[in-house]
Amino acid sequence: MTVTFEKKRIFSLRTLEDTEALGARLATQFRQGLVFLRGPLGAGKTTLVRGWLRALGFDGPVKSPTFTLVEPYEIDSVQILHFDLFRIANPSEIEYIGMLEHLETSQLQFVEWPERGDNHLPGPDLDIQLEYDGSYRQALISVENVKEI
Ligand SMILES: Nc1ncnc2c1ncn2[C@@H]1O[C@H](COP(=O)(O)OP(=O)(O)OP(=O)(O)O)[C@@H](O)[C@H]1O
Ligand SMILES: [Mg+2]
Repeated sequence: MTVTFEKKRIFSLRTLEDTEALGARLATQFRQGLVFLRGPLGAGKTTLVRGWLRALGFDGPVKSPTFTLVEPYEIDSVQILHFDLFRIANPSEIEYIGMLEHLETSQLQFVEWPERGDNHLPGPDLDIQLEYDGSYRQALISVENVKEI
C-alpha cells in the first residue's frame, strides 16, 4: 500500500516480508548511487538491504555490518557496499576507514546510521526513513527521489 502525504511517500510495512519487498522494488529502479537508511535500532534497515540484494540475485547471507562497519558484495561483477556507522565514535572516523575512497570504487552503497557520519559524507541519492511503533512499521521516502515504485 502506498500513501502520498505532502512530499513524502509512505509505505506501510506490516511484516518482515513487506520490508524485504520494498527493498526489492527499489532495486528495480536504483542501480547505482548512495542510499541512506535512517531510523531507530531494529526498524528494519538491514532487512530492506537484504530484500534489495536478494532481488539483484544474491543468495548468500546478508549480515548486519554493525561490528565490521562494512560488508562488501559482488553481484554480476557489480561492487556493492553496505555500511553501518552505528558504532563509530566520531564522524572523523569516516576518513580513517577510507570510506570516501570506497564509495568511489563501488556502484551502489547503503549506509545505516548516516547521521553518525555528520557532514563527512556526501548527500544521498536516495534517503529512506524507517520508523516503528510497537509492531507497526513504515518507510518514508522523499517523493522527488521516487519516480515509479
Ligand atoms: N516490517 C517488519 N515487521 C516486523 N518485523 C520486522 C519488519 N522489518 C524487520 N523486522 C524484524 O526486525 C528486526 C530488526 O530488523 P533489522 O536488523 O533489519 O533492523 P535495523 O534497522 O537494521 O537495526 P539496527 O539499527 O540495529 O541495525 C529483525 O528481526 C527483522 O526480521
Ligand atoms: Mg541494521
